[in-house]
Order: sequence, then structure tokens, then C-alpha cells
Amino acid sequence: MTEDCILKIDGVTKRFSNDLDIAERTARKLGAKIEPVTVHAVDGITLDVRKGEVLGLVGESGCGKSTLGRMVAGLTPPTDGRILYKGQNVAELKGTAARDAALRIQMIFQDPMSSLNPRLQVRDIIGEAPRVHGIVGRREMAGYVEDILAQVGLDPSTGKRYPHQFSGGQRARVGIARALAVKPDFLVCDESVAALDVSIQAQVLNLFVKLRQDFDLTYMFVSHDLGVVEHISDRIAVMYLGRLVELGDAEDLIARPNHPYTQALVSQIPTFETGKKTYQAIKGEIPSPMNPPPGCHFHPRCPFAHDRCRSEVPVLKQVAAGRMSACHLNDSAA
Ligand SMILES: Nc1ncnc2c1ncn2[C@@H]1O[C@H](COP(=O)(O)OP(=O)(O)OP(=O)(O)O)[C@@H](O)[C@H]1O
Ligand code: SF4
Ligand SMILES: [Mg+2]
Repeated sequence: MTEDCILKIDGVTKRFSNDLDIAERTARKLGAKIEPVTVHAVDGITLDVRKGEVLGLVGESGCGKSTLGRMVAGLTPPTDGRILYKGQNVAELKGTAARDAALRIQMIFQDPMSSLNPRLQVRDIIGEAPRVHGIVGRREMAGYVEDILAQVGLDPSTGKRYPHQFSGGQRARVGIARALAVKPDFLVCDESVAALDVSIQAQVLNLFVKLRQDFDLTYMFVSHDLGVVEHISDRIAVMYLGRLVELGDAEDLIARPNHPYTQALVSQIPTFETGKKTYQAIKGEIPSPMNPPPGCHFHPRCPFAHDRCRSEVPVLKQVAAGRMSACHLNDSAA
């Protein structure tokens, strides 16, 4: 673990086993060939997050981004591997140490409406966790919540309102305020602006940038949209079907993608209306994580696939300064 590494993801795997339901078990007894399915959501990922950086995590739907984010936030345990936060294996902490670690890493979800209790005023939504964990006393609470509302760009008087009385962008700010209220130093932002209009997205992304400076935060910024993580990230990690396929400095990775999957992700089409870059969908279907292709998972869609790709898993290795990639083509180039 290097000095500036705040979080180490060390060979982390997550498999989900979906047991058979009653109808499937009955059909199986009657001779149908039905087996419980195992989803390889995250497959042996090793990755360091540096203190104070924004690490963008991108990849198409179902590639395991949220599952990795949830494991980092301690919301779901890995099947294999370890997550070390400031050198400590979070899963092994007990008592107050476990509680403190759980507060230090907060997760912000895509849809604040479904994660905010509709029956509570926003000031209670924000104040609940700090009150339960004794972060602020009862008397200081009102001022504490008002300060946080102001920090996220909301009028402090809005604390009396209920979630449905806010716009989408304001609700995103409430979700951020709730996470900040327990004084975290690491935020996992999972598709945190995906539900918002493009202009509001930009405002909320700017807020994330400001808060990082104000509170000395580190982010893991998860998005299926490279356009969203492009400007906010210091480094970008690219996932494909549970595996990390490329990692590097954000600007450099987008300017000079090494992995054919990243190359496909960054092949962009400019749009006339907004002048904003959008990214083209990649050709070919995403294979099922229940039955991933052997060798390089990307081979059925890769224009450069050759025999070795169909049988041998490419290892993630350094291909340039600060750049890791998992593609056999790097061996032939060497
Ligand atoms: N609790 C669960 N039980 C069973 N399978 C799950 C569970 N959570 C996730 N999965 C499966 O794991 C795989 C990865 O899912 P995950 O939600 O991590 O992907 P994602 O990259 O976040 O996708 P999206 O961009 O659509 O949010 C998917 O095939 C998904 O169906
Ligand atoms: S290992 Fe082969 S299939 Fe995979 S990305 Fe590289 S060239 Fe394509
Ligand atoms: Mg997700």
C-alpha cells in the first residue's frame, strides 16, 4: 500500500448465487435440466484509490460498477479478496472501529427520491445519522443542518420541507448533504447525476468539485457515461464484465486509450445541438455475466480478437507510465 493510498481493493470478487424458486425446483425434480445460476458480478479486481483523488469508474450496464461501489462502502461483503481502508481490513473491524469506518465511507445513490424517507422533513433526514452516532448534540443540531444545507447550495430554510417538495437537482443536493452530515472522508457516488437534465448535471458535478476542496474528500465516481466522469476524474478505471480492463490518468486515457474496449468507449460523436461530446454505443451485445466468454471477456466484440484471446485471460499490467491495461496486443507490441 503506497503512502498516498487511502483505499486498497485487493483481489476482490463478488459472486451472486441465485437459488432456484419453487417452480424451478419442482421442474428440476421432474427431470428438467435447471441449475442455480451464479453471477460473476466482480471478478478479481485490484485497485488503489489515492487520498484526495477522484477515481472515475466506468463501463456498460451490468459490468459490476455498483457492486464494487457497494463493497467499498461496506454495504455488501466480498466473496473473495479484501478491502483495506487506511490499511485496515474493514470486514475485520469490530465495535466502534467498525462503526467509524462505516461512517468514513459514504455512498450516494442515483435516485435520491427512493433513498430519502418521504415522510421526514429534510432537516431530520440530514440530522438523523449524526444524532444517532453522537456527532452533534441536540442543541447544535439545527445550526449544524443549516450549515450543511448552505454548503450544498440549498437555502437553510428548506430544511422544513419534505423530499417531494424539491426539484430533482435539489434532491440530489439533499442526498449529498445527508452523506456529508456524518463527516465522511470518502464518497462513493453511484450514478449520482444520471437522473438529472444535462444542465443540472453540470451544476451538481461542480458542487462535487467544490465539496472535495472544502472537505478534503476522496471520490469513487461511478457512471456508465464516460462523458460524466471525463471532466471530474483525475484517473479513470474501465470495467468490462466484472474485470478491470484499463486504468490511467483521465485526460491521457481518453486521448490515448490502450484497450480496444476503452477505444470503443471513447469513439465519440459530437452533437450539434449542445456541442457536448456524447459517446457511441459499442457494437455487439454485452455477454451475460452468468456465462461470460472464456479468455478475454471482450473477444466476441473486439475487432482485434485472435486465437489467444479466446482461451487466455489477459492480465492487467503496466503499459506506460501510470497506465495499466489488460490486452494481449500489448505483448505482441513489446
Ligand atoms: N443482489 C444481487 N443478486 C443477484 N445478482 C446481482 C445482485 N446485484 C447485482 N447483480 C448482478 O451483478 C451484475 C453486476 O451488477 P451491477 O449492478 O454491479 O452493475 P452496474 O455496472 O452497476 O450496472 P448499471 O450501469 O446498470 O448500474 C449484474 O448482472 C446484476 O444483475
Ligand atoms: S485481449 Fe484480444 S479480445 Fe481482448 S481486447 Fe485485447 S485484442 Fe481484444
Ligand atoms: Mg449500477
